[in-house]
Amino acid sequence: MPSSLQDSFPSTPGKVKIDRSHYNLSRQINRWLSSSATLVFWSLFLLALTASFACLKTSFTVPQSHARGATTAAASWGGPAWEKQLRRSCETRRANAQVVLVTGAAGFIGTHVSLALKKRGDGVLGLDNFNDYYDPSLKRARQSLLARHGIFVAEGDINDGALLSKLLDFVPFTHVMHLAAQAGVRYAMENPNSYVHSNVAGLVSLLEACRKANPQPAIVWASSSSVYGLNSEAPFCEADRTDRPASLYAATKKAGEAITHAYNHIYGLSVTGLRFFTVYGPWGRPDMAYFAFTRNILQGKAITIYRARGGAELARDFTYVDDVVRGCVAALDTAQPSTGSGGRKRGSAQYRIYNLGNTTPLSVPQLVSILERHLRVKATRNVVEMPGNGDVPFTHANVTMARLELGYKPTTDLQAGLKKFVKWYLNYYGYEHNGKGKI
Ligand SMILES: NC(=O)c1ccc[n+]([C@@H]2O[C@H](COP(=O)([O-])OP(=O)(O)OC[C@H]3O[C@@H](n4cnc5c(N)ncnc54)[C@H](O)[C@@H]3O)[C@@H](O)[C@H]2O)c1
Repeated sequence: MPSSLQDSFPSTPGKVKIDRSHYNLSRQINRWLSSSATLVFWSLFLLALTASFACLKTSFTVPQSHARGATTAAASWGGPAWEKQLRRSCETRRANAQVVLVTGAAGFIGTHVSLALKKRGDGVLGLDNFNDYYDPSLKRARQSLLARHGIFVAEGDINDGALLSKLLDFVPFTHVMHLAAQAGVRYAMENPNSYVHSNVAGLVSLLEACRKANPQPAIVWASSSSVYGLNSEAPFCEADRTDRPASLYAATKKAGEAITHAYNHIYGLSVTGLRFFTVYGPWGRPDMAYFAFTRNILQGKAITIYRARGGAELARDFTYVDDVVRGCVAALDTAQPSTGSGGRKRGSAQYRIYNLGNTTPLSVPQLVSILERHLRVKATRNVVEMPGNGDVPFTHANVTMARLELGYKPTTDLQAGLKKFVKWYLNYYGYEHNGKGKI
């Protein structure tokens, strides 16, 4: 809660300071007050007053999102009904279950990770600000899907320290799966502050809440393959240079790796950073190329395919979302507890970074050909030179460390993964086949 509000609304009605001058009026008024009828009246009045304090206390607003024009409506949180949803969502159904706070739970990967954890019996609570970087109705649909599986997504911003403290005070989370971020490389040229807001300031706000929490949760969070920036040696290994980012997005993820390291060092927070490589699949992100290509191909519009200077085709280590989810869950399962307590470090804590990729890069034109096959529609391709917008020519993961230490093994190739994506897309957006193999 903002401090100005904190001053006016005490945390419990019992802490209301009563102005004694009200009680020193006159003996006559005191006598009148002592009659039983008026006592009932004052009791009811005080009850109503207390209830309205409680309502006001639980409906304060959180800061506006900085994503896409800050058009997100202010969210409210708190109150007995909200707390009940929190409690239910965090119920566990297996021995030694984890209780995980998933930030960015209404996002693409957050939804899949939350479902996987809940399905095996862990307690899961989501947190998301539902910003409109891309169509928020897709985030709301994911929220409904999660609700059907007993997962509650609290609406709020990771920059809201009071909300985070409330969540971490209310639930003794064993882990935080931190996926909330401003994603996308090109959007940084339009709205650079949204990256600083979510990926830097928001991350610090979350780490502050975690380091003060008792018990301190272990943190697993999403970094990105983009930290490899201008590296040309492939495949990318965790020990490679990451000090030459090609975009502001990459720079904020690199900053995140440095910031989490500092919190690990000072406060004993257990931290695992996961560098995801171009994750795709059902419930995916509409700003990503495979999603936008699918939309345009189905609408009969031309698609723009970038090629690198000198004519080379762009290539990505496309990674299917289920593979990434298995990597996330393995990272949670192998995370050692944080060593701090109430903000004090009591010993050194685990700090890890892993690549989670597919290890088989394919070119963007190959991706389009697979989509054409699954959609049974030919794309109109418009090939142009890649503008200097932060994209890199290729990505390629070395996942040896994740394989050895997390048991990570990607199993879905682009052909099979895009088939599942296209099936979901056609169903979600209401396309039908006409019986002759056409859509
Ligand atoms: N999808 C990929 O290919 C990919 C690749 C590398 C890294 N990542 C990282 O993985 C994570 C998840 O990515 P995704 O593809 O699911 O993206 P996404 O945009 O679908 O999910 C992120 C979610 O975080 C929420 N969010 C953003 N800022 C917030 C804030 N300040 N407070 C609360 N919620 C906030 C958004 O509303 C969104 O629902 C991100 O950290 C992203 O940078 C993704």
